[in-house]
Amino acid sequence: MTPNLDREKQLAAQQAVQYIQNDQIVGLGTGSSAVHAVQAIGRLVQEGLRIQGVPTSIRTKELAESLNIPLLDINEVEAIDLTIDGADEFTTDLMLIKGGGGALLREKIVASLTRRQIIITDSSKKVEKLGKFKLPIEVIPFASHYVMNQLNQRGGKGVIRTSGDKPFLTDQGNYIVDTDFGLIDDPAALAHELKTIEGLVGHGLFINLTHEVIMGMGDTTQSFR
Ligand code: A5P
Repeated sequence: MTPNLDREKQLAAQQAVQYIQNDQIVGLGTGSSAVHAVQAIGRLVQEGLRIQGVPTSIRTKELAESLNIPLLDINEVEAIDLTIDGADEFTTDLMLIKGGGGALLREKIVASLTRRQIIITDSSKKVEKLGKFKLPIEVIPFASHYVMNQLNQRGGKGVIRTSGDKPFLTDQGNYIVDTDFGLIDDPAALAHELKTIEGLVGHGLFINLTHEVIMGMGDTTQSFR
């Protein structure tokens, strides 16, 4: 039977929001899984939960505002207690590819400030090795040709993401280059190498940033720590 992936995301979200306590600062992720978490948080706030949210994208900010979740600007916070976000792929040693929704840069900044990062996914996201999902890489438009050549020299075939007939623009006005490195043997080494390329402002490899993945599976959830 084909799994109901949206239901699995919703189950994982319901489980994750149970970690939230009064007076916490909560990072609000981006993507279809995170939408379930933000909606669940909205319901809890309506029932009296006191938290302040830090959104990882403009669209999550708008969703949170529509649900009357009190928000903080990231530049007003020293630390975030808990963040709930999605992922495009994860391994059981808690390495991720993120950025399918284009919000990877803000998501990584929020994750870097977060004490407990919880990733919620459906059962299609668990992999043995990262890399089937093309790695989203954020580049400043001025550098896109240069960065793509540099990626090519490192074995990565990149394509600029489009929206209609124009390049997709991130919340920072940058491009995303979806890059095929094949299956990635050493994600930490690749993450390190990518940061040496000028004009590349972020990439979707999340290493040592996740404390728990909650994966929906059928009618239940499974946790990886
Ligand atoms: C947004 O930029 C992404 O990092 C998402 O968290 C990721 O793409 C997972 O998205 P879904 O929850 O929609 O699968």
